[in-house]
Amino acid sequence: MSTPQAIESLLTETRVFEPSQAFRARSKTVHCPDMATYRALYQRSMQDPAGFWAEMASHYSWSKPWSKVLEWECPDAKWFVGATTNISVNCIDRQIDAGLGDQVAIIWEGEPSTNDAGGHEVRRLTYADLKREVCTFANGLKSLGVKRGDVVTLYMGMVPELAIAMLACARIGAAHSVIFGGFAASAIVDRVQDANSSVIVTCDGAWRRGQVVPLKANVDEAVSRLTGVRHVVCLHRCGNDIKWNGGRDICWHDLVKGQSHECAPEAMDSEDLLFLLYTSGSTGKPKGIRHTIGGYMVFTATTARYTFNLVPGENQVFFCTADIGWVTGHSYVVYGILPNRVPTVMYEGAPNFPKEDRFWEMVERHKITHFYTAPTAIRAFMKWGDEHPKKHDLSSLIVLGTVGEPINPEAWIWYHEKIGSSHCPIVDTMWQTETGGHIITPLPGCTPTVPGSCTLPFFGIDAAIVNEQGEELPPNQGGLLVIRKPWPAMLRGIHGDRARYIETYWSKVPGMYVAGDGARRDERGYFWIMGRIDDVINVSGHRLGTMEVESALVSHDAVVEAAVVGMPHEIKGTGIAAFVTLAPTHQGVTGDALRKALCEHVTKEIGAIARPDMIRFTGALPKTRSGKIMRRLLRDIAAGKESSQDTTTLEDFSLLAKLRETDE
Ligand code: PRX
Repeated sequence: MSTPQAIESLLTETRVFEPSQAFRARSKTVHCPDMATYRALYQRSMQDPAGFWAEMASHYSWSKPWSKVLEWECPDAKWFVGATTNISVNCIDRQIDAGLGDQVAIIWEGEPSTNDAGGHEVRRLTYADLKREVCTFANGLKSLGVKRGDVVTLYMGMVPELAIAMLACARIGAAHSVIFGGFAASAIVDRVQDANSSVIVTCDGAWRRGQVVPLKANVDEAVSRLTGVRHVVCLHRCGNDIKWNGGRDICWHDLVKGQSHECAPEAMDSEDLLFLLYTSGSTGKPKGIRHTIGGYMVFTATTARYTFNLVPGENQVFFCTADIGWVTGHSYVVYGILPNRVPTVMYEGAPNFPKEDRFWEMVERHKITHFYTAPTAIRAFMKWGDEHPKKHDLSSLIVLGTVGEPINPEAWIWYHEKIGSSHCPIVDTMWQTETGGHIITPLPGCTPTVPGSCTLPFFGIDAAIVNEQGEELPPNQGGLLVIRKPWPAMLRGIHGDRARYIETYWSKVPGMYVAGDGARRDERGYFWIMGRIDDVINVSGHRLGTMEVESALVSHDAVVEAAVVGMPHEIKGTGIAAFVTLAPTHQGVTGDALRKALCEHVTKEIGAIARPDMIRFTGALPKTRSGKIMRRLLRDIAAGKESSQDTTTLEDFSLLAKLRETDE
């Protein structure tokens, strides 16, 4: 859940920011210039989805046209039925064919300074460069026996080769499963096993705040616990010491050496798998979200075009700060941006390295026009101080975006004033790994914005707030956020778990996609997201299942039982609070040393994003008579609030007092 404080302030927010005149003056083309156009297009997308999406899809290349735009038998959608295409062609070749081969596709910047004067390592890849790199790597993958239908796991840092590897997989019809480089070895084991990958692509290490994250060592550890991994391709990036397994490991550069620069794209069915991306749910096991090619391609490119008003030929430079390991990076660093012919910036490292002005310095140096980040980052920028953005010329910026969690109005206003000079529209984009692209968002130059609201649904998205019977609720009444019609980039399932797919998304309100968020709509129809309704917490804009953290904790010798809940956190939005009961052997040895050991254990098991912010030791956890942990009560305690929850079923009342004590 988002923090109670945040929700309270959202509920009272009334400031309206009309579309900025400065934005209009600076943008020759505005795809959706006013609300009348938005309403007309939205209405059309609702009344004639097939016609609307066929028109959007016609902007891209298809090797065979569709026989039908949509086949829908809830909960199974097929988009652009019978059509074939290749997303790498739409990201690359289409631009080359239009004579734009020498234009910049990717601007990549490494984290370390390369000289004492603070010079930077920058690589600019044109569409022609990208094609050459993608084709040679695609041929390299083929030489390892990778074929259409396989799933290749990518566990890399933010280097251009990650985007290249994704596009190379797509080129030869293999799906990819990208694992965020911040995850630990166990997370790799689960994901590789579930995806049944026999090839993993990694790097020796990744730069993060001047330190090397040992990616290859994590892969080695994971592979030692796996059977079925035939090859590990390793890109040398950091030069850190790594172990080498001659029969299994191949150096990226050796793999591409001598390979042809041409690789004919496979003609893929629109509904073939493009990628798996694992995300947290309410059980301990992450879900492999399945996205297919045609619908995802059209939806991500269309949302990117309208939500950010991308226009080729207007010197735009798009920077999404997300790591490609998350869906935001998939859709708005790579797949949604490249077809729009606007350079996409990829940055390797931390926002505060070497100093807290890194992003602003990059905005100035690369003349970035579009900046897309998360509220947690904005809150960190605020804390670091206004002097950092002030030092730089940010006048190139035209559109600002946020994603990942509800943005508190204070952060929105700061972003608007200090980064956007009070004239850049802010697009607060609400979406999920499962939705593939934006589902509720303002359009710049068009939608009046209210800080904290993601405003109105994107074209084709029939979003509503309903009760459990599926009845739409009146304004300002909180309920379930649902989508009532299929949309092109909707997930096509959970890999290998049909029952979980139906149960998670389609069973709470039959016939409707249930997003898992509580939300309300105000009188003007604007959506306000109130937070998750399941056991998922949103930490720094990243989804984490409380059960995942609990399982990591109980896998430590000292822990018998653990309950994890979200708690308000100044920067992260939601922090992680863990209530832990200890094994008899460890009772009496509580305190900071054990706390630290448990935090390190969770970091080792899952990754640093899952590190608890608070651990309380307790003799027992509060449970109902039927044995369910009373999570709401724990949430209130973690937030330092008096609980409003009825505690009459609480097994042991004295527990409550004990749990409130900060130590022990
Ligand atoms: O709770 C919503 C929140 O993030 C969840 C999706 O997380 P994930 O699949 O990791 O994708 C994050 C990036 C797309 C949602 O269920 N969320 C995402 N964007 C917003 C948001 N909550 C409020 N406002 C947003 N703009």
